[in-house]
Amino acid sequence: MTRLSGKVAIVTGAASGIGEAIVRRFADEGARVIATDIVDGSAVAADTGAEFLQHDVANGGDWKRLMDRVAEHYGRLDVLVNNAGIVSGQSIENTQLENWNRVFAVNVTGVMLGTRFAIEQMRANPERTGGSIINLAPATSFLGFGDDAAYTASKHALVGLTRSTAAHAAQEGWDIRINSLHPGPTDTALFRRQVEAHPEILDAFRAMSPRGRLTRPDEVAGLALHLASDDSVFSTGAQFTVDGGLSSTHPSL
Ligand SMILES: NC(=O)c1ccc[n+]([C@@H]2O[C@H](COP(=O)([O-])OP(=O)(O)OC[C@H]3O[C@@H](n4cnc5c(N)ncnc54)[C@H](O)[C@@H]3O)[C@@H](O)[C@H]2O)c1
Repeated sequence: MTRLSGKVAIVTGAASGIGEAIVRRFADEGARVIATDIVDGSAVAADTGAEFLQHDVANGGDWKRLMDRVAEHYGRLDVLVNNAGIVSGQSIENTQLENWNRVFAVNVTGVMLGTRFAIEQMRANPERTGGSIINLAPATSFLGFGDDAAYTASKHALVGLTRSTAAHAAQEGWDIRINSLHPGPTDTALFRRQVEAHPEILDAFRAMSPRGRLTRPDEVAGLALHLASDDSVFSTGAQFTVDGGLSSTHPSL
């Protein structure tokens, strides 16, 4: 018996990095996975048996098409991983409005839309089995990253959105849990873009980490598996870190 057998899961931003690792782990554990991304992710899907659908998380029409497809072909939704995310690379000094708005559209509005559509489908699941929504934000969500105002602000907002939606679902008596998952700096394309723009952050993050290394995507997938599985049924509105102690350790003591 695998830990996600019988479950249907959507993973956004699944063409690379953390999303790809989550698709691979969920598929190994028996889930039927719908992998989505704004760029082509059919290679990951072909490798894992997942279905790939092109999808911009900031677009409400794309969410409707995705959920219609899930309802028609799978008849249920158990897990949504709101993983797609982008950085701006701009401090407050040089923030451009268009860039700021796009970061918020993807990192916050995209999660709000996904959560609304997912709750609707999960409430309609046969036998009211509920579901799990998992929102990706950095372990440093609770700190300021001076080189990226929009990314920092959007991921702080995501924690508030997670808490608000979790509170509402619990108060309504729905069997739907919503949590945020906070990796430490993880070696992916997104992280490499940040390092290219600000090379000093690589050594700074290593120095901050009591384990002296970055998080691996498969380690993030392991915690996502816990949150997707029935082992986490009474956890909601919470922040789960996977960062080797980075966010809880004083950097110089
Ligand atoms: N890498 C890190 O250090 C790190 C640490 C903590 C949290 N996170 C978070 O984890 C998530 C995944 O990050 P990653 O490092 O794997 O990044 P990544 O850049 O490797 O992957 C992100 C994926 O999201 C997709 N995407 C971008 N905009 C999209 C949109 N509008 N609609 C659909 N898909 C879109 C991209 O095409 C890409 O495949 C992000 O939300 C990020 O904030 C990353």
